[in-house]
Amino acid sequence: MSREKLLAEITKKYEQAYERRTSKSRAILERARRYMPGGDTRISIWFQPYPIWIDKAQGCRFTDVDGHEYIDFHNCYTTMILGHANPKVVDAVREQAARGTALGALIPTVVRWAELICDMVESVDKVRFTNSGSEAVMMALRVARGFTGKDMILKTDGCYHGSYDPVVYPSDATGIPRSAQGDSLIVPYNDKAAAEKAIVENRDRLAAVIVEGAMGATGMIPPRDGYLEFLREVTAENGVLFILDEVISLRLAIGGIQRIYGVRPDLTIMAKIIGGGYPVGAVGGREDIMQLFSPEARKVFHAGTLNANPITATAGVATLEQLTAEEIERINGLGQSFAEGVRAIFARLNIKGQVTGIGSLQNIHFSDKPVVDGKSAQEANKDLLHLFYLAMLERGIFSAARGLYAMSTPMTQKEVDTAVRAVEDVITELKPVIEDIWPELVGQPAMV
Ligand SMILES: Cc1ncc(COP(=O)(O)O)c(C=O)c1O
Repeated sequence: MSREKLLAEITKKYEQAYERRTSKSRAILERARRYMPGGDTRISIWFQPYPIWIDKAQGCRFTDVDGHEYIDFHNCYTTMILGHANPKVVDAVREQAARGTALGALIPTVVRWAELICDMVESVDKVRFTNSGSEAVMMALRVARGFTGKDMILKTDGCYHGSYDPVVYPSDATGIPRSAQGDSLIVPYNDKAAAEKAIVENRDRLAAVIVEGAMGATGMIPPRDGYLEFLREVTAENGVLFILDEVISLRLAIGGIQRIYGVRPDLTIMAKIIGGGYPVGAVGGREDIMQLFSPEARKVFHAGTLNANPITATAGVATLEQLTAEEIERINGLGQSFAEGVRAIFARLNIKGQVTGIGSLQNIHFSDKPVVDGKSAQEANKDLLHLFYLAMLERGIFSAARGLYAMSTPMTQKEVDTAVRAVEDVITELKPVIEDIWPELVGQPAMV
């Protein structure tokens, strides 16, 4: 039988087993399809044959509508660092909900929220709130262009910055006008020479370089060999602003990945953990740049009906006040333990799987080449990852379908050990399939 036929057959077997376990999710999807395109409203959570629908979540666990319990390593793409329904967040939100949820003026809690963020992130003198990371990116680029009087943006291949046209990845996505991409340059992530050349050659037109602290959506690929530090230096030397997108990486230390690597960006983009599970984004940074947002300056336009709304601000404060360096350190350790456990299984079972990541954020890939940038991550085997994913779900382990595992503070070594045992079980089960369909993935894993 051909490779394609074998793959189609085995995929069908795994998808059918999944469908048998999730009949209520399927029924909801069918209803959803009547009102929402494809029954979906968020492409990033879709997987074949359809995602589960969730009933309730608490701590590091949730139950789907079919009554199956999962340990949650997805955590809404890393957002829920304190896990779900954290009691202090729930109490604070409940109290605020009774006092008003959307008002025509700010509540004082917003100032505490801004203060917490400015205290935590050293490079952030002032902060401006939005309702999503995508909006924060949009405002960061706008203020960078306003400040420098230049239009061009340099971004890196594989870095994800949300839904705003000029940074959508891949850049040839349907519906993105060419004009939106016209003023941006793309270089590979972790390639210092390419970045330096592009920055120096375009210094008179370049407003900013935007880069993720660690490449999240593409597969949790950390910066290598002083990459962020280098970008900081070269941008400063050439009069170009350095924007660090910490929407995902902020959770890696109090003060974000910029504290780990000792870099001071001009602007930082934040979202996810700072809103405690409610819609949020923020751009923060240097006083002289951020001041352009001030109503008194009237330089850079930024409005938004629900910016810094009372519920998000309250949940944000309740979350950030509970985050300690010790707890972050502990869950970073859990992430490392997960990565080491899974690497040991790949080595023992002689399968070319890799785990990339940093601290509490880890990503599994199947590839015979080291996964180090956008291109190598895209080239990793997605068909095997799909089978692996469905088999992990069957064992009660929920992660992002792209292989991302994010730790949360309600987790202990016990949950990590359970996940590692599930990986062992799944790889043992899939080994004959890998030998048949992907013999190139049999052997000792590449070191990353
Ligand atoms: C690094 C990064 N930047 C920006 C965004 C966009 O944030 P949002 O989905 O809140 O618009 C994301 C979302 O996952 C992200 O991971």
